[in-house]
Amino acid sequence: MEISNVAVIGAGTMGNGIAHVLALSKFKVNLIDVRRDAVERGMGYVRHNMDRQVNKGIITEDQKTEALNRISQSTSVETGVRDADFVIEAATENIKVKKDLFHTLSDICKPDALLASNTSSISITDLAAATSKPDKVIGMHFFNPVPVMKLIEIVRGIATSNETYEAVRNLSYKIDKVPVEVQDYPGFVSNRILMPMINEAIFCVMESVASAEAVDTVMKLGMNHPMGPLALADLIGLDVCLDIMNVLFHGTGDPKYRPCPLLKKMVAAGYLGRKSGKGFYTYDAKTS
Ligand code: CAA
Repeated sequence: MEISNVAVIGAGTMGNGIAHVLALSKFKVNLIDVRRDAVERGMGYVRHNMDRQVNKGIITEDQKTEALNRISQSTSVETGVRDADFVIEAATENIKVKKDLFHTLSDICKPDALLASNTSSISITDLAAATSKPDKVIGMHFFNPVPVMKLIEIVRGIATSNETYEAVRNLSYKIDKVPVEVQDYPGFVSNRILMPMINEAIFCVMESVASAEAVDTVMKLGMNHPMGPLALADLIGLDVCLDIMNVLFHGTGDPKYRPCPLLKKMVAAGYLGRKSGKGFYTYDAKTS
């Protein structure tokens, strides 16, 4: 099927990044969030990040202006998805919220519209089961910062059709990303590998094996990671890391995925990383 109109639900870090890359690749995008201030803040990040690309010579001023003109904004899911050929959900990582949303989407979207989720760990099969068209539901998992990271993990639910998969694979290439097909198991591939590493780094700090800075330096200089696991946890959000560890732990029943007690304690204290100004490091300005 031909995709030209895309609705992105959720204007947070991932949602605004997804709108950014789609608009630069000439798709018409409707950026939707239930709160007006959230949509406006999201658009502010798109402008800021496109300016960064203009300054680096990655895109021209004209490309930026044209891309921004392709993004419309909405605070209503009902009206925002009406014309969409493709909906990508990047709302809060809460299974009830997402299931309710997918149930609604399957009722109100065009009959042949495809429904994707950017979820980092919630089962695509579960989300699809809440709809009347599970064959048209799929995972399209982007990575932060979206304009920079090349990977898209395409997650096939048990009922996802080949046609839906092919459409999302083609879309990924059109936005200059590299898709990788994975099946729907807890954490998919990316977070099944990444999160236990981050969790183990937090155990190292909790057990005073080394400081946060030392742990990160080991991984940066010893393993050539662009940033250490604790700085990355702060970028992702410690609450998100904890949610994903819980999905791995409960989804597999395997104790090797138990979340580190220090991670739980920091989340309980509101130390969520960059977005709260404090995590394993402190940050001057609050960023979303
Ligand atoms: N939009 C556009 N461009 C951006 C950007 C954004 N939001 N953020 C950074 N950039 C650009 C910069 O302009 C810069 O461009 P040039 O290379 O052309 O100069 C480039 O990205 C590098 O940025 P910086 O120079 O500011 O900083 P850096 O070299 O330290 O790189 C980083 C920053 C790209 C974040 C790098 O540290 C990195 O790759 N870190 C790992 C990120 C990662 O692992 N992400 C995945 C997280 S997991 C996830 O998202 C999914 C999940 O389910 C939890």
